Amino acid sequence: MAAKGPDFARALGDWFAANARDLPWRRETSVYRTVVSEFMLQQTQVATVLPYFARWMDALPDFEALALAEEASILKLWEGLGYYNRARNLQKLARQWVAASEKPRTAEAWLAYPGVGPYTAAAIASIVFEERSAVVDGNVVRILSRLTADATTFKDGSAAMKRFYPLAQTIIEHTPTPGAHNEAMMELGATVCLKSKPLCLLCPVQRFCAGQASGTPEAFPQLVRKATVQRTVHRLWVIDHGKLLLHRRPDDARRLAGLYELPEAEGLLNCKNLSQPLTVKKRGIANERIEERIYQAKATPSLKKKVEGDKYYAWLDIDALDSVTLTGPHRKWVTELLEKSR
Ligand code: ADE
Repeated sequence: MAAKGPDFARALGDWFAANARDLPWRRETSVYRTVVSEFMLQQTQVATVLPYFARWMDALPDFEALALAEEASILKLWEGLGYYNRARNLQKLARQWVAASEKPRTAEAWLAYPGVGPYTAAAIASIVFEERSAVVDGNVVRILSRLTADATTFKDGSAAMKRFYPLAQTIIEHTPTPGAHNEAMMELGATVCLKSKPLCLLCPVQRFCAGQASGTPEAFPQLVRKATVQRTVHRLWVIDHGKLLLHRRPDDARRLAGLYELPEAEGLLNCKNLSQPLTVKKRGIANERIEERIYQAKATPSLKKKVEGDKYYAWLDIDALDSVTLTGPHRKWVTELLEKSR
């Protein structure tokens, strides 16, 4: 396959040199800036990350500052970005980095750090230390499966990544600048080789692409679609003497540990008595379609008693809600409902 040769790496490299987006972690690079940006970019788009990256760098400019920060302030800086374990792992990483007598350079050494998987290890080692270590994420899988018109049906994304890793590693052998090459692959996936309606006319490596030649580049990669699951959650909006009732997710929760949300109705009152919701929100997480119904409820003596003895419930002053970290969607809903009630 022609993409395995130096012509491909050169065509991609020339395109990236002329078209790379001007991003803050590219303008000024350091180990710390690359590590923070790569953590934020895990499963999150560049446009979303930009304001978070700027605030983070202002508040925590280096590994030492991050190692010493309060966990609550870190979560606050991460509020709305999702996958909050990334923020906790980033702090653990900073502490380990500060304590290390020999600082990590290779992808293998970075893999021993919290929150660093093969993708992030390869990104850091190549971008900062020019190691020839290929990154393979969903974007790269899409590009390589199209280049090769690979008709395999993969059971999930990680099966596909495993399959294309050897090809990605072969390609990176031909470039003089492995860091820029990896970034160019991600950039091509994010801006040209799009999931639907790829911009093949603008693609610098179109002539290497068997998927484009087949006429249906969008058909690749083929992934088994998981069945979607519907779920309904009932939540409460209870205000008592200027305070809003919130629920903190337990520290050992698999997702969103330690963050605040509007409380679920179940356990606090009889869901059968709920009538018209104040608002209904729909969202999708992975293969789940979740409908969240938020009901106004009174702070009855029985409800107050239930929350009083449970350390996960908190009555928070409406004027001080900014002092805690809510999950992204709940911050939006709470802001919206407060505005409505004003
Ligand atoms: N996604 C993950 N890492 C990235 C990077 N360095 N540049 C652009 N997008 C990315």
